[in-house]
Amino acid sequence: MELTGNTVLITGGRSGIGAGLAKAFHELGNQVVVAGRRRDQLDAVAHAHPGMATLELDITDPSSVTEASAALLRDHPKLNVLINSSATMLGDDPGHRMDEADTTTQVAVNLLGPVRLTSALMPHLRRQPRAHIVYTSSTLGFAPIALFAIYSATKAALHSYILSQRFLLKESSVTVQEIIPPWVGNGLAGSPDHPLAMPLDSFIAQTMQMLATDAAEVLVKEAAACRNNAGPDEHGFVDRLNTLFLAQSY
Ligand SMILES: NC(=O)c1ccc[n+]([C@@H]2O[C@H](COP(=O)([O-])OP(=O)(O)OC[C@H]3O[C@@H](n4cnc5c(N)ncnc54)[C@H](OP(=O)(O)O)[C@@H]3O)[C@@H](O)[C@H]2O)c1
Repeated sequence: MELTGNTVLITGGRSGIGAGLAKAFHELGNQVVVAGRRRDQLDAVAHAHPGMATLELDITDPSSVTEASAALLRDHPKLNVLINSSATMLGDDPGHRMDEADTTTQVAVNLLGPVRLTSALMPHLRRQPRAHIVYTSSTLGFAPIALFAIYSATKAALHSYILSQRFLLKESSVTVQEIIPPWVGNGLAGSPDHPLAMPLDSFIAQTMQMLATDAAEVLVKEAAACRNNAGPDEHGFVDRLNTLFLAQSY
């Protein structure tokens, strides 16, 4: 995509990767709208970045999606970029009884949320001369961490949905890109200084460079091994990854 001249909505733009992308697009002179659930936190974002707009949105609530989409298009009729970055990651253990609320929340935020919001904005985006939908999946959608089983599964499902949507939009003015981050510091996985976590600044800089291309997948080199996992040795790769993760974490 062109990195300038856009009106960009970023869900989860208050923190982590979403905040990094919001800052980068804002500094390039784009009109950025940051969406999140809490007014006080959104006000702090607007205060720190004069010119950034904000939008109250709970992506798990269909009526909030409907109302926020209407307000967004009323106030920002030139919206042409949607970046879906909101997510939640809760530990679980499918070897034992699962927590019903945690399971439902992760599916609602990570899968139904971006599907629902993109659907609400799709008629508008299709009318734009050029529009871009960006999703943030995860390497864990390709190689799961067993103690984040539902989170990993939501990202695998999101990837599948993205493939379908990209195919159906290929003759349209709308492009679809999938950012597949590795473990990035300062976000939902915590541990900004962990030696295995990619520094946020470096991740955002490389991601912006790749968003400027037509690449369907935005894949930094740190993410490549997990992304390319699926194949005859998939189970072996997942076993080695989880053994490494458990050795590092516990
Ligand atoms: N950091 C990593 O290591 C990593 C690795 C791979 C993939 N990713 C993906 O990258 C994206 C960004 O992650 P991050 O690390 O930057 O996470 P983060 O800092 O925890 O940000 C997550 C954002 O999601 C928003 N959110 C959560 N529930 C929501 C809801 N119901 N409605 C609307 N917004 C909601 C939060 O906004 P409010 O609290 O303001 O509502 C928050 O700003 C996610 O899709 C994540 O899965 C991250």
